[in-house]
Amino acid sequence: MSKKIAVVPGDGIGPEVIREGMRILERINDESKLGLEFVHFGWNADEYLKTGISMPPGAMDDIRNNYAAVYLGAFGDPRVPDMKHAADILLGMRFQLDLYVNYRPVRLLNDRLCPLRDKHRQHVDFVIFRENTEGAYVGMGGNFKKGTPDEIAVQEDVSTRKGVERIIRYAFEYAKKTGRKSVCMSDKNNVMRFGGDLWLRTFEEVAKEYPGIEHFHMFVDALTMQMVRAPEMFSVIVTNNMFGDIVTDLGAALQGGLGMAASGNINPGKVSLFEPIHGSAPKYTGKDVANPIGAILTAAMMLEYLGHDAEATRIENAVIAAIDAGETTHDLGGALGTKAAGEAVLRRL
Ligand SMILES: NC(=O)c1ccc[n+]([C@@H]2O[C@H](COP(=O)([O-])OP(=O)(O)OC[C@H]3O[C@@H](n4cnc5c(N)ncnc54)[C@H](O)[C@@H]3O)[C@@H](O)[C@H]2O)c1
Repeated sequence: MSKKIAVVPGDGIGPEVIREGMRILERINDESKLGLEFVHFGWNADEYLKTGISMPPGAMDDIRNNYAAVYLGAFGDPRVPDMKHAADILLGMRFQLDLYVNYRPVRLLNDRLCPLRDKHRQHVDFVIFRENTEGAYVGMGGNFKKGTPDEIAVQEDVSTRKGVERIIRYAFEYAKKTGRKSVCMSDKNNVMRFGGDLWLRTFEEVAKEYPGIEHFHMFVDALTMQMVRAPEMFSVIVTNNMFGDIVTDLGAALQGGLGMAASGNINPGKVSLFEPIHGSAPKYTGKDVANPIGAILTAAMMLEYLGHDAEATRIENAVIAAIDAGETTHDLGGALGTKAAGEAVLRRL
């Protein structure tokens, strides 16, 4: 497997948090002699505004053929209101590299960070798998009589048997491999009848192959309520693209906020993309206030994907120790800037 990692810091706070993640990755790479080669790409809004190009021709093929993973910051810039560059690069990679698994762990690292009363670390520890290539994100639909009082807009929500089955199977395989006790599939099949029917039938069929793992279905509105009321009832959750997008922000809040959460966009065994779940937070750009922990935990997740489990655990333990010591950014109640919060983790490696 290639040892090359594409590093794409992106816009806004992306470069600031990726810089901290890179300091950790470079240290681990040297000390554990992993032999990873980091190649930096400056694709972002600045570049797009200057050249009109989001990603140079051939870049996607280069990533597909020559890299093991992509480590990405965030995209989004008020000067590009239609987000064209972000759609080309981020959604482009998700679709063209077929990154069908969006892996988003929800794990509370310190009781103090949980906004829920009487919930502790042992209550908030589950994983959400969001289908990442279909649903409402395929861009199918259109407008009729646009701009008139009779305007009609249609937005399609697409589910394929292949797409649904592979994400559900991945969730069960993950549960089996990691000893998780249950898989919950969440949708809204009382309203979205046709897609919901496909999801539920597929879920029941795949579940039969995993008799040791409990499985249950929950409507997504009930899921949001239970994630707040009793998060301990969840172990693995699998859901579609849109619902996954929404409930994972709620999951991030249970962990201490958007600055804490990591995600993987995975095509098993192939080049995959790892990014903190937050966006470019333009109001924080260049102010040294963004929390780098989401980006640092993302680096750990990427190492785990590449088979370096011990190094991933080493990073997670350093993050937990820095949080326990209160050496964090303001969003976690600390007094440090982005760089100092990154250093607090680096020191504890
Ligand atoms: N994957 C991505 O690249 C991605 C994801 C979400 C949003 N976006 C884009 O980012 C831009 C801003 O979107 P938004 O404001 O809705 O979402 P956002 O995640 O950028 O920020 C929302 C709020 O969350 C908090 N926050 C986020 N990251 C933080 C961090 N590291 N440390 C501390 N606090 C943090 C801040 O209070 C911030 O105002 C938009 O252009 C949006 O489209 C990109």
